Amino acid sequence: MTAVIKTHALTKTFKNHTAVDALDLNVPEGSVYGFLGPNGSGKSTTMKMLLGLTSPTHGEIELFGRELNPTSRTELLPAIGSMIEAPPGYGHLSGEENMRIVRDMLGLSNAQIDYALSTVRLTEHRTKLVRNYSLGMKQRLGIAMAIARGPSLLVLDEPTNGLDPAGIEEIRNLLVHLAHEGITVMVSSHLLDEIDKMANVLGILSQGRMIFQGTRETLFEHSLPDLIIETPDPEAVLAQGVDATKTQGGVVVSGINKTETAEMIHRLAVANVPIFEVRRVQQSLEDAFMDLTGREGLL
Ligand SMILES: Nc1ncnc2c1ncn2[C@@H]1O[C@H](COP(=O)(O)OP(=O)(O)O)[C@@H](O)[C@H]1O
Ligand SMILES: [Mg+2]
Repeated sequence: MTAVIKTHALTKTFKNHTAVDALDLNVPEGSVYGFLGPNGSGKSTTMKMLLGLTSPTHGEIELFGRELNPTSRTELLPAIGSMIEAPPGYGHLSGEENMRIVRDMLGLSNAQIDYALSTVRLTEHRTKLVRNYSLGMKQRLGIAMAIARGPSLLVLDEPTNGLDPAGIEEIRNLLVHLAHEGITVMVSSHLLDEIDKMANVLGILSQGRMIFQGTRETLFEHSLPDLIIETPDPEAVLAQGVDATKTQGGVVVSGINKTETAEMIHRLAVANVPIFEVRRVQQSLEDAFMDLTGREGLL
C-alpha cells in the first residue's frame, strides 16, 4: 500500500521537553488512520508538523511520496484538508456565510460548498448562526470547510472531542463515508472508544512515542482473548490445572494465546473432559490496547 503520510524519526522538542519523539508514521492511502494517545502525548504537535504549521526539531516528513519542505509546501498542502484543535468558524455568521468565506479564499464554486454542506448534513441548518450550532454541528462545519476543496487527505484533530454518543456516531459515519469516497483520513482522539469501529489502521502514542502502529487486526493478534469453555463438569477442567474461573455452564480462561489454547484443548480432550463448546471472545479495542500496554491503563 502506498503511504500518503510517512515520517522518519519525526521529533519536536520544546525547550528541554520532547513532545514528539522519533515518530515513524505510516498512513496508508485510503485508510482511516486513528491517531490515539492520552492528552499531552503529542498528537496535535505531530499533526501541526504534518501541516507545516510548526517545524520539526529533527526528522523528515513525506506527503504523497514527496518530502515536505518550504519549496514543496505550497504544492502539497492544497491537497490536504485539516481541522486542528477547536473547530473554526465565526459564531456571528451562519454556516453558509462561513462557507462562502472559504469559497472566496480558495476560489471554489457554489456547487463545491453546497456539496460539502450536504456531505456533513448541514444543508437544513445552513442559515442558522454558528454560535447557535451544537458542538457536533460546529465540528461538522469544520469538516465541511476542510473537505470543500476536494482534498485527497484529511487531517482532523479530535473531531469527536466533547460530543455525545449520537454526535460521535455521526462524525464516525461521515469519516467512513469520506474514506469510501477515496479520501485518506487521519483522525486523532484521546479516547479509544471514539476511534473504535472507524479506524482500520491505528497509531498509538504515549509520551511522544509510538507504542503501536498497524491494523486493528494486528492489535487484536497482540491481544490475549478470553476463552469460554462450555462444559457440564467445570471441576474436571480445573482438575487439569487450567487456570480458569467457573461460570454458569462452564469456565472462562482469561488472556490465553493460540498455542496455549491448542495445548489446553488437547489436554482436556486426552483427559476425557466433556466439552460442548470452546470459543474465543472477541475483545474490545480497549482490552487489546490494555494487553499491549501491560494493562497499565495509559489512556
Ligand atoms: N507551543 C508549545 N510550547 C511548549 N510546550 C508545548 C507546546 N505545544 C505543546 N507542548 C507540549 O507538548 C506536549 C504534547 O502536546 P500536544 O501535542 O498538544 O498533545 P496532545 O495533542 O496529544 O494532547 C505536551 O506536554 C504539551 O504541554
Ligand atoms: Mg491535542
